[in-house]
Amino acid sequence: MAAESTAISRCTVLSRWLLLAVSLTVACGGNPATTVTGPPPPLPRQLDPLRKVIADRGLKIGIGTAIGSLFNNTTDPAAGQYMTVLTREFNVITPENDMKFGPLRPAQNQFRFVRADSMVAFAAANGMKVRGHTLVWHQQLASWLTGGSWTTDQVKALLDEHITTVVSHYKGQLSAWDVVNEAFDDDGGARTASFWYSKIGSGYVEQAFKTARAADPDTPLFYNDYNIEGMNAKSDAVYAMLADFKARGVPVDGIGVQMHLIAGALPPLASIQQNFARLAGLGLKIHITELDVRMNLPATQEMLATQAQNYRDVFNICLQQSACEMVVMWGFTDRSSWVPGTFPGQGDALIFDSSFQPKPAYTAINNLLAGK
Ligand code: XIL
Repeated sequence: MAAESTAISRCTVLSRWLLLAVSLTVACGGNPATTVTGPPPPLPRQLDPLRKVIADRGLKIGIGTAIGSLFNNTTDPAAGQYMTVLTREFNVITPENDMKFGPLRPAQNQFRFVRADSMVAFAAANGMKVRGHTLVWHQQLASWLTGGSWTTDQVKALLDEHITTVVSHYKGQLSAWDVVNEAFDDDGGARTASFWYSKIGSGYVEQAFKTARAADPDTPLFYNDYNIEGMNAKSDAVYAMLADFKARGVPVDGIGVQMHLIAGALPPLASIQQNFARLAGLGLKIHITELDVRMNLPATQEMLATQAQNYRDVFNICLQQSACEMVVMWGFTDRSSWVPGTFPGQGDALIFDSSFQPKPAYTAINNLLAGK
């Protein structure tokens, strides 16, 4: 710590004298991207952590993040700062990958609960809720499953067995289960390219919800998807399915609206509000489950300001809709985000930069929650 401060002040003096501020700042480790040991950078003096602001003001919404490879990481030097900021800021977590079929079930008769269990225990120890994600999805399945040759009845039995085992394991410990993820294509048709659809047909969605309810009657069950925040063909199809489920008594309690967004290119806010209102009208809880707001790299100050406004607008919509219970972001630091690997040339989608400095989006959310 002492050595670090000395290094920084020496750099500062040198850069003043030599008027090479930019290059020296980078070379001397002043570039935040390189500083990962010791405590994380402090918040600006006038800001309290997000979860404290929410608690102090008695706000009804939860604030969460997905947690992935940096969680309890014993080799990455950034893990300490990651854990400190995670614990400081959030009161909800979602395992980013560790409850998915493939990671959880590497072989037909082997469930590997250890890592997900450690996340659930961490949440309990730190006063956080946990969203379970996800029981049924077309991605991150195990190869023993997708590569096997199964009859329809065998796949139905495997689906039931999987859901019953996993939901029973976490019975009473989660605040939500994403039972089915991404069952629709963007045009509103069923996602027919899914393993589950191809083996069972569209009935797998209903089957999954019924089986999950039977295994744990009390944990709220969610349908989760992307590109369904505003009014469009896909959100119409999801709405119609959920209305049908409600009418026929198929157990569903909420909708997860992922919200993987692009800075400066959100759907109109009125369209999001209208969609949330019709979903709330079905008696569904609404969770924003995977919020991130990506941009082309390198980021500019203008785009970071636009991103900040976008984050503020999304949180504001949740605050104004009583059915909206929480906003969960898909990570919190640009050091660990699925975006650059999924959308080449894009990134900087989260509210802390890669060395845990709060970005303008962080301040914008914080001010909104604080009533400023
Ligand atoms: C992503 C994870 O972030 C990545 O680490 C993984 O490689 C692929 O899945 N919608 C979802 C999430 O519901 O589960 C996805 O998470 C992102 C898109």
